Amino acid sequence: MDKFIIKGGRRLTGNVVISGAKNAAVAILPAVILSDEPCVIENVPNISDVNICLKILREMGATVENLGKDVYRIDPTGIDKVCVPYETARKMRASYYFLGALLGKFNKARVSMPGGCPLGDRPIDQHLKAFSILGAEYTLSQGMIDLKADKLRGNQIFFDVVTVGATMNAMLAAVKAEGLTVIENAAKEPHIVDLANFLNSMGANIMGAGTDVIKIRGVKHLHGTNYSVIPDQIEAGTFMIAAAATKGDIIVENIIPKHLESITKKLEKIGVNIEQYDDSMRVWVDGPLVKANVKTTPHPGFPTDMQPQIATLLILAEGTSIVTEGVWEQRFRYVDELRRMGADITVNGKVALIEGTGKLMGAPVKACDLRAGAALIIAGLAANGITEIEDIFHIERGYDCMEGKLRALGADIEKISVPDNKTAETDNSRAAV
Ligand code: EPU
Repeated sequence: MDKFIIKGGRRLTGNVVISGAKNAAVAILPAVILSDEPCVIENVPNISDVNICLKILREMGATVENLGKDVYRIDPTGIDKVCVPYETARKMRASYYFLGALLGKFNKARVSMPGGCPLGDRPIDQHLKAFSILGAEYTLSQGMIDLKADKLRGNQIFFDVVTVGATMNAMLAAVKAEGLTVIENAAKEPHIVDLANFLNSMGANIMGAGTDVIKIRGVKHLHGTNYSVIPDQIEAGTFMIAAAATKGDIIVENIIPKHLESITKKLEKIGVNIEQYDDSMRVWVDGPLVKANVKTTPHPGFPTDMQPQIATLLILAEGTSIVTEGVWEQRFRYVDELRRMGADITVNGKVALIEGTGKLMGAPVKACDLRAGAALIIAGLAANGITEIEDIFHIERGYDCMEGKLRALGADIEKISVPDNKTAETDNSRAAV
């Protein structure tokens, strides 16, 4: 089991280069299955969720070659299995993208039902609804979802909730379906647009991604492509907040500033200075931080995946802030850990009241999910004393060399390995988020 040990109190300064977006990469890699030729994917983040995706592709019969640091050539022509077993699927929530990609290519798929989730109820009813509307039948048995269709036909899909995963899965399944598919009440996140751009670069005909109506005219074949994944807006936002929390001064490189608009606006309100350039941003603090109210909503609103990080920053601001979670049922489980570091936060359902005490103290804490882990790192960097963070496998699911990047900015953080006595228990706790 690995831990992070952070000695807090150092200002972050210097430059950090943001990696490719996790939530785009975990959809684009399965989408390669739809191609009739090899694809080269660049700017792939080195995170455990991506490694699981690549493992699943290899196990299915694809040839995966690493052409350099973050570049992969994937040849899907050898795929001869359409199954993602429980053992691999449970480690990564996004394994559900293999459903849409396999169905779209082979008219059938067998993928383990995603496991439990620390963010609360995480149904996939909208994914299954979309597959049914396109002509697939599904059965659930022994924890596996089986999909099959004689033929997929374009149709009208209206989502009952705005869902990133189901929007992407509907795109994957519809891209080769006969005729026109119209997805209404679609999610609009940057990774939806990235998946559409990737599929279009293989010859798909997708229009409207980034709006709430996406139109897909099915094509018969998709060819190989060379594509670069967009930068990770959440990794960028996390570093912006880490800089603000330590009253630092950093340049965040390899970003698309437009994707960060809601984060930038909120941070400016809190008292963070931001100067934007074409593909980078300077972020610094030279005055007091002040309270703010934050409500997370689907894009273009403030992202839920930045909620624990901004809540942590608000502990360091003057005044009482209110943070409301508008996407997930339970995204305040990390608050107990922050309390161990001296935070004064009251949670009532989906609303947290944060008293800006202006300071945090180091403590041993545990990451309960990916973004909770990021929040604890930020807290540790800003705290007086030493913070030890356990269960950092959550953080490594979605942040590419977080400690290395932070060290380069002047943080005192190291990763240590400690003997793991509770093998079976720990392994079960590694279900995906
Ligand atoms: N929902 C349903 N039925 C469905 C699907 C979703 O009711 O069939 C509900 C969910 O319960 C939730 C809401 O709709 O309340 C939004 O869920 P969504 O489907 O958008 O989430 P997701 O696709 O499962 C992705 C990201 C999450 C991120 C959310 C929201 C990936 C792999 N995961 O999840 O990322 O929080 O969108 O933006 O793309 C993270 O990176 O830390 C993370 C959790």
